[in-house]
Amino acid sequence: MYRIAPSILSADFARLGEEVRAVIAAGADWIHFDVMDNHYVPNLTIGPAVAQAIKPHCVRADGSKVPLDVHLMVQPVDDLALAFAKAGANIVTFHPDASAHVDRTLQLICSQGCQAGLVFNPAAPLDMLEWVIDKVDVVLLMSVNPGLGGQSFIDSALRKCEAARRIIERSGRDIRLEVDGGIKVDNIRRVADAGADTFVAGSAIFGQPGYRAVIDAMRRELAAGEPARRAA
Ligand code: DX5
Ligand code: ZN
Repeated sequence: MYRIAPSILSADFARLGEEVRAVIAAGADWIHFDVMDNHYVPNLTIGPAVAQAIKPHCVRADGSKVPLDVHLMVQPVDDLALAFAKAGANIVTFHPDASAHVDRTLQLICSQGCQAGLVFNPAAPLDMLEWVIDKVDVVLLMSVNPGLGGQSFIDSALRKCEAARRIIERSGRDIRLEVDGGIKVDNIRRVADAGADTFVAGSAIFGQPGYRAVIDAMRRELAAGEPARRAA
C-alpha cells in the first residue's frame, strides 16, 4: 500500500542513469522527477529530454517497470505536460494555480494515457478538488515551499493530509495521497498516520551513501509504527 518515491533532484546529475538504477535496486517504488522553470519557482532543473534519457533506467532487475512521477513546477503547464507525457512520464502532477484551466489540463494529461495529479502548496486550500476529483489520480501535498530540496517539513501539511484523506475517502476513488518535502526516517510515520500513502524523499535518501539502508528504515517505520501506536 505504501510507496516510496525518491526525488532525483538530490541525485548526482552527472551520473543520473546510474543513480536511478541504484535507487531502484535499493527499493524505490516510483522515481520522482522535479521540473522547475525559474518562473513558477525560483530554480531551474531538468526537462523532457532528461526524462526520456532516464526512462530506460526505470526498470527493476526482474524487468518490471518503475513509474516515472513527473512533478511540474512550471507555468504555463499544458505544453510541458504534453512533452513529458511523450517523453515517458507515467504520472504528471501540476500546481493548479499555474494552469489557466485546471480541468482542461487534467483532461489533457489523461488523454495521453498518464495518471494526472494536482499539487497543493503549503498555503493552498483543497477546495478545488471537489470539482475535479473524478479526473484526479494523485493528490500531492507540498510539505515545503516548492523550489529546493533539503528544506524542513512544514507541520500544517499533516492537518491538510487528514483533510485530503477525508476528501479521497468520500470520493470512493482510487487516488494516491502523496506528500513531498522534508520527509525523513524520523517523520515518515507521522505523515502516514495523517493519511498519506506515497512519500517523496530527496535529500534523506540521496544524502546518505547507502540508499537501501534509508529506504529500509522508512519501510520499517511504516510497517512497525501502526501497531505500536495502537497499543499506546
Ligand atoms: C521541492 C521538490 C521536492 C524535493 C524534496 O520543490 O518538489 O520533490 O526534491 O526534497 P527533500 O526530500 O530534500 O525535501
Ligand atoms: Zn517534487
